[in-house]
Amino acid sequence: MDVTIRDGYVDAPLPEGTDPATEIARLKKEKNAVVLAHYYTRPEVQDIADFVGDSLALSQEAARTDADIIVFAGVHFMGETAKILCPEKKVLVPDLNAGCSLADSCPAEDYARFIAAHPGHTVVSYVNTSAAVKALTDIVCTSGNAVDIVRSLPPDEKILFGPDRNLGEYIRKVTGRENMVIWDGACHVHEEFSAERILQLKREHPNAKVLAHPECRKVVLLTADYVGSTAALLKFAREDAATEFIVATESGILHRMTQENPEKTFIPAPPVDSTCGCNDCAFMKLVTLRKICLTLKYERPEITVEESLRARAERSIRRMLELSR
Ligand code: 13P
Ligand code: SF4
Repeated sequence: MDVTIRDGYVDAPLPEGTDPATEIARLKKEKNAVVLAHYYTRPEVQDIADFVGDSLALSQEAARTDADIIVFAGVHFMGETAKILCPEKKVLVPDLNAGCSLADSCPAEDYARFIAAHPGHTVVSYVNTSAAVKALTDIVCTSGNAVDIVRSLPPDEKILFGPDRNLGEYIRKVTGRENMVIWDGACHVHEEFSAERILQLKREHPNAKVLAHPECRKVVLLTADYVGSTAALLKFAREDAATEFIVATESGILHRMTQENPEKTFIPAPPVDSTCGCNDCAFMKLVTLRKICLTLKYERPEITVEESLRARAERSIRRMLELSR
């Protein structure tokens, strides 16, 4: 169908009176399509998704779906990971501008030089990377399985970990592993949380427990009662007896936390600069219901990955999936 992709997303009108959520439901059925969404997306996007999850669960779901079309409501590397796992399916993303500062902090050419400078190391890379970086990688990991994957390797096996320095340092601390070199990358959202302001909040809410994502800086993790991936934080919030939580990860997770625990209170941890709103991932928030609707309707923008690159990237993702069953 003829349509303009302007500035990274479909630029076309929706017929007057169209309710995007209703139209998305109709198009999904007509086209045998699914919408997969990350916990950081807007609440209304999570509400229309067929599956909402963290990076690990989303890649597992992409690998198992029998839909013909996957619309990835998340950021670019997530859609790319789905395409790598399902080359025969059409994988669509609502806005090509939904990138990731962490993935951007690790250009493939520089990572290749870093790997070449550390011969004999097994390369373990976070899923928040481009297909080109995954193609240089031995085993992909997510925040949900990084510790287990590193532990599954023999203690004397040298590891090169990238690109998140905070997650890398956290793994090193938890596993006690010294033979691990770490790439110097970070996520701008998680880097911005302020330990001082979290401690201030703790003084105001003495019974609140602090939940933090391992992409946060070490000083922030030191304030935490529990550190985990988004799925692990949700599980902890469900199962722990506390009724108040200070949450140091992207604010989109509060939607699911509140839905699952209406009787509990969730307080977003503040960033260093309260005026910058940095605890929102601006990339994730680019995904709107209107863009999902237009993407489904016109089947664009579509993710493509060159075949030899895809096959090399797939090996490292499959290794992760096998270790995470
Ligand atoms: P998880 O989904 O693994 O918790 O990672 C969070 C994240 O930053 C995704 O971009
Ligand atoms: Fe990337 Fe950080 Fe946004 Fe996750 S929260 S998509 S790591 S920029």
